[in-house]
Amino acid sequence: MAVLVTGGAGYIGSHTSIELLESGKDIVIIDNFYNSCPKVLDRIEKLAGKGFAFEECDIRDRAALDKVFEKYDIDSVIHFAGLKAVGESCQKPLLYYENNISGTVTLCEAMAAHGCKKIVFSSSATVYGEHNVSPLKETMIAGGTTNPYGTTKFFIEQILQDLAKSDPEWSVCILRYFNPIGAHISGMIGESPNGIPNNLMPYITQVAEGKREFLSVYGNDYDTIDGTGVRDYIHVVDLAKGHLKALDKILDENGVFVYNLGTGRGYSVLEVVAAFEKASGVKVPYKIVDRRPGDLATCYSDPTKAKEELNWVAEKGIDEMCADSYRWQHQNPNGYED
Ligand code: NAD
Ligand code: UD1
Repeated sequence: MAVLVTGGAGYIGSHTSIELLESGKDIVIIDNFYNSCPKVLDRIEKLAGKGFAFEECDIRDRAALDKVFEKYDIDSVIHFAGLKAVGESCQKPLLYYENNISGTVTLCEAMAAHGCKKIVFSSSATVYGEHNVSPLKETMIAGGTTNPYGTTKFFIEQILQDLAKSDPEWSVCILRYFNPIGAHISGMIGESPNGIPNNLMPYITQVAEGKREFLSVYGNDYDTIDGTGVRDYIHVVDLAKGHLKALDKILDENGVFVYNLGTGRGYSVLEVVAAFEKASGVKVPYKIVDRRPGDLATCYSDPTKAKEELNWVAEKGIDEMCADSYRWQHQNPNGYED
């Protein structure tokens, strides 16, 4: 029996694939390389010391998915494939609704047709919207998302819940990620954004590498420890390990399960800059600029439910996250293009 990993060539999918292989699982990765590079596949195999199956496939292509399910003995799916750029989603909402929502519906139809009804889904803290106050708990009412990307995550959560309600054979685990950063300790795989990074850590590492002059800090007048935005950064390898626990849960029990994956601890932008400088030994020049529209002051998780029900806790701290992010960037200044 194999686990199908959609979007397994991406940032979180590649790290999770290594953990799955190291735990002895057989996996089949599918990806259309919209936001990733085939080179990562060799690196996954090398780091895990174990081979796996790969098919270049778009999750919106039902015929291609059917072939994958016919070719391999798949009993569960970890579903990472999706588009994730908030700004782009505001400019191209239909692309996001089509790729993320239609893609997930097509994937679930193919799964059902082949008797595979177990799925772990990559959701986001963004589904808590603007009205909930941190620490964010799974019992809070989600919604009120502020951009099409976030809305796709919220809608997909609803679709998966409706599906499980309609057919008790389904088992769904929704994982709400907080802010994944860091990289595999080898420095061989990591996050490789196209163009100018939108997110904080890839921007910091590019400044440290001399690819950008300075970091723009989006506002220092929030009601936080030093006025800059506070987030719950989580090491991508901790996040990856959370998926193995989620998989055990759905292989064991039917139903819908929702978990935050975060550390429960928030850091401000300036605290992250300081931690990064300490871990890398490199100075990160920054300038305070206007707030970024749509940003919240503070966002961090209550990770208690994942601890109690999945026996999962994030183990790696901010220093390790920064050191590993820097190692990846330093060894691969141009990401997978190197
Ligand atoms: P990523 O872009 O690195 O990986 C996503 C992968 O999916 C890419 O390899 C891309 O080529 C592939 N893909 C996209 N559309 C596809 C399609 N139609 N068919 C097949 N493959 C397709 O992103 P990531 O950071 O690894 O994120 C993985 C998942 O986690 C996404 O669903 C994302 O929305 C979610 N998520 C990410 C974050 C984050 O900060 N990175 C936070 C919360 C949730
Ligand atoms: C962003 C997304 C969110 C997504 C999350 C995934 C936006 C508006 N939100 O959230 O939907 O789920 O990533 O990890 O894009 N910052 C700077 N300078 C920068 C970049 C960021 O000061 O160049 C600050 C931000 O204002 C924020 C913090 O750093 O306070 C983290 O930003 P980012 O990494 O973009 O993550 P989120 O805003 O949490």
